Amino acid sequence: MENIINADNISFEYYNYDENGEKKEAITALNHISVSIKKGEFLVILGHNGSGKSTFAKHLNAILTPKEGTLFINGIDATDSKNIWDIRKQVGMVFQNPDNQIVATIVEEDVAFGPENIGISPEQIRKRVDDSLYTVDMTDYKRRSPNQLSGGQKQRIAIAGVIAMQPRCIVFDESTAMLDPIGRKQVMQTMHKLNKEHGITIVHITHYMQEATLADRIIVMEKGEVVLEGSPREVFQEVETLKNIGLDVPDATYLIYLLNQEGFSFKSGLLTIEEVVNEIWQSK
Ligand SMILES: Nc1ncnc2c1ncn2[C@@H]1O[C@H](COP(=O)(O)OP(=O)(O)OP(=O)(O)O)[C@@H](O)[C@H]1O
Ligand SMILES: [Mg+2]
Repeated sequence: MENIINADNISFEYYNYDENGEKKEAITALNHISVSIKKGEFLVILGHNGSGKSTFAKHLNAILTPKEGTLFINGIDATDSKNIWDIRKQVGMVFQNPDNQIVATIVEEDVAFGPENIGISPEQIRKRVDDSLYTVDMTDYKRRSPNQLSGGQKQRIAIAGVIAMQPRCIVFDESTAMLDPIGRKQVMQTMHKLNKEHGITIVHITHYMQEATLADRIIVMEKGEVVLEGSPREVFQEVETLKNIGLDVPDATYLIYLLNQEGFSFKSGLLTIEEVVNEIWQSK
């Protein structure tokens, strides 16, 4: 399958400045990483705080550009500044706090904001807004004020605003982190629906291991590098590597790991309670 993202050997540094505005020190946030993402893939990025996840995410819609290496987004060269707006049409971003992403006082006006700014015709805007609200299951709220909505509902309005721009890929940078369990579940369902039914490539950054078990592929970042990569089953087998960099594994995976440490020999890399029950049952 074709790739939507091709990052080859990219690096990025932030600079700290002293009181005179002189560069004081460089912080390497991405250290020569290569990541490709297939069209239609659901990719999860895991990593400890400060490992470079958001910095990488911001490269995908040209908020940041690599200092070294090559980066192509749907075939468009992201290192060329004249391509910024083309790239932003390809890749949308949903951030952690929905309150920072909502600009209007009426839900449907908020969703219309993006398309209005790129000169879409009024009839087309109407259609995009209705379709987007329908997709995130928020049609009934279109005349409401975002202030009256729950965190999960607001986040789905933010997602509607992004899909109204018809991107091919959406990056969710910890978009479930501030939500209650119900809101998280609804946002996760929306993400999977966009992926399965609309073919949108999803890049989901999260600290919730359970959310990662549903990915097609996981990459694990540490100190600006990719340290593990594979299917959820492959990645979560590496319990010790993950623990060493301060990450957890799903509870079910950890349970089997601990039992095997005590001398059992269950299959490793199980991801869910159901799989664990099944494995224990079979060994009876
Ligand atoms: N604007 C900035 N100026 C200076 N340093 C920065 C800036 N943003 C990030 N950094 C540094 O770059 C490194 C990578 O940060 P980044 O935000 O990409 O990590 P992250 O994996 O998204 O972390 P988190 O899980 O906390 O969101 C860290 O060392 C961080 O302190
Ligand atoms: Mg981050």
